[in-house]
Amino acid sequence: MSSASPSPLPRTVEILGRQYPTDDITNIPPSIISKIPLRLHTKPHHPLSTLRSLIESAYPDFAHLSSLSPLVTPFKNFDELSFPLDHPGRSVTDSYYINKDLMLRTHTSTHEVETFRKGDMKWLLTADVYRRDEIDGSHYPVFHQVEGAKIFTADANGLKEVEEDNVRLERLLAKENIVIEDVPNVSKTNPVQEGHDPVFAEAVARNLKLSLNHLILRVFGRGGAGVGKEEPLRVRWIEAYFPFTSPSFEVEVFFQGKWLEILGSGVVRQATLDTAGVQNKIGWAFGLGLERIAMVLFSIPDIRLFWSTDERFLSQFEQGKITTFKPYSKYPSCFKDVSFWLPRGVSLHDNDFCDVVRDVAGDLVEDVKKIDHFVHPKTNRMSNCFRINYRSMDRSLSNEEVNDIQDSVVSRLKEQFAVEVR
Ligand code: DAH
Repeated sequence: MSSASPSPLPRTVEILGRQYPTDDITNIPPSIISKIPLRLHTKPHHPLSTLRSLIESAYPDFAHLSSLSPLVTPFKNFDELSFPLDHPGRSVTDSYYINKDLMLRTHTSTHEVETFRKGDMKWLLTADVYRRDEIDGSHYPVFHQVEGAKIFTADANGLKEVEEDNVRLERLLAKENIVIEDVPNVSKTNPVQEGHDPVFAEAVARNLKLSLNHLILRVFGRGGAGVGKEEPLRVRWIEAYFPFTSPSFEVEVFFQGKWLEILGSGVVRQATLDTAGVQNKIGWAFGLGLERIAMVLFSIPDIRLFWSTDERFLSQFEQGKITTFKPYSKYPSCFKDVSFWLPRGVSLHDNDFCDVVRDVAGDLVEDVKKIDHFVHPKTNRMSNCFRINYRSMDRSLSNEEVNDIQDSVVSRLKEQFAVEVR
């Protein structure tokens, strides 16, 4: 759980021009607050914005939403979506809390209830989401997701509509150079929900898969990354579990020699629609992360580059076009280790350490590795050693500059966690 933090917190934090009270679970650092206004998915020419438009173009008749605030209640982020009380995502080591009643959304699913409540039957929603994480080339505490959903009226006409749509989509897919490894639409381990008509639920699961196979063709096939001209585009469906869907699925796409997991999806839990006050409807939803897909489509080697304001990065991209990123040069790494004893009773999660590093060094750190950890057999005190890899994406760092940053990291660790450096 949380770490004892000897240094006092400010009484309020300012986010998007408003003050919010802090409390003893506040863990949102300035480095994260500063990212909130940036909204990369709305920046013209940015790869994330191009990918978002590409996805939207696969769903031209859906509502396209993108301006919901990232500040949500834990209730909305978790409880409304049937997350159990002991779900690890709720912990302060995994999520950013402004205070006990307000957090940064950890996924776009958090907006399902309100969007259904508004009456939208088919919609896409793009937004920035926040998760505390370690530091490496493919994880960043802020990333972007697209959520999509479609609901049908749960009566004979609704069923006819889904079945006709399935026939239409199947015919279109049959003309494409795509090979799909499927799993059953429903099974014992991936069941129809209690209260759902099994025929309807299965047709909806089928509609979800067909619709997403088309999305994948749009993004990875013709008009997107161009797979399928010679080798077929390969897609595989996998049974999954999410608290807010059943049956549930994950999808992987074979791209550049590897299976890439791209999204989670399923038939929406009836509880979600009930909470939204939507009656007599049944439908599907999916959620996908933009960075992971954009990194492979545009050959972007490091997730920090999405946040770069360097013209050598930004000027390479044109809105609506998938192009290969040309690295401008890789500057040298500078490794610094820090070893320390923790005071008895103070715990420090790896994510706590990474937040300190990020706060002091920002994007100058490429990755952080824990290289040693032990407990003294006599005193029971814990010792940690972390190796920080400093490397700028834009310039060479001098050893002096890195030493200064490293000194600040060490002072912050002493201040915040009362560590004793070895
Ligand atoms: N919200 C999930 C995540 O961030 C992804 C997801 C899974 C979204 C299933 C959905 C869904 O809409 O039906 O991991």
